[in-house]
Amino acid sequence: MADRERWLDAVWPFVREWLPDAPARVVEIGCGSSGGFVPRLEQAGYEATGIDPKAPPGPSYRQAEFEDSGIPGPVDAIIASLSLHHVADLGEVLDLMHTALVPGGVAVVVEWARDRFDEATARWCFDRLPEPGDDPGWLHGQRAEWRESGLAWDDWLRSWAQAETAHRAGHPERAGCQVRSRDARFRALLLRGPGRDQRSR
Ligand SMILES: C[S@@+](CC[C@H](N)C(=O)[O-])C[C@H]1O[C@@H](n2cnc3c(N)ncnc32)[C@H](O)[C@@H]1O
Repeated sequence: MADRERWLDAVWPFVREWLPDAPARVVEIGCGSSGGFVPRLEQAGYEATGIDPKAPPGPSYRQAEFEDSGIPGPVDAIIASLSLHHVADLGEVLDLMHTALVPGGVAVVVEWARDRFDEATARWCFDRLPEPGDDPGWLHGQRAEWRESGLAWDDWLRSWAQAETAHRAGHPERAGCQVRSRDARFRALLLRGPGRDQRSR
């Protein structure tokens, strides 16, 4: 199974847990070229729309940035998995999400917590990567780059984040931090992340 599908399978129970009961209207921001959670949502009885410039063809998808997509609203829930740190203007996107959601609607955000991605977590994670085969995943690349750099983990992670910032308008750690720390438009229901406390297996 491709890394992407394994990732989606692993995160889907968490996402599903926070969604309203089906049937309900759900938008996924940044569903990626595989369609992200949209197939799983539809199978579970949701009316789903995946929005991403790289979205696959089909009536359930819009090949556009969320900001330019003419969001199908109002919707009952919005999912954004590892996509908010890519957007150019997070404040604008949060505004649009808030506008698109029905009162009491849910935004399920899965994001980086870079401050928790310490060396022990990285080693735990890298040690469990399967053989890369012909189609190495993103984490395989991160592991290889770190090893080749010869840097301490913290230094490498900082240089990686700086490089990402330099060629991208968004910031790799920005989305999670801002949504969690200061956005009055959303009431945070749960904040948790893979880190020291979940590195048990
Ligand atoms: C790291 S991938 C995440 C894919 C998938 N959601 C996942 O969890 O594996 C980030 C995705 O966000 C998309 N993206 C970036 N900016 C976007 C925007 N403004 N609106 C919609 N999608 C965007 C990218 O094209 C990319 O497919």
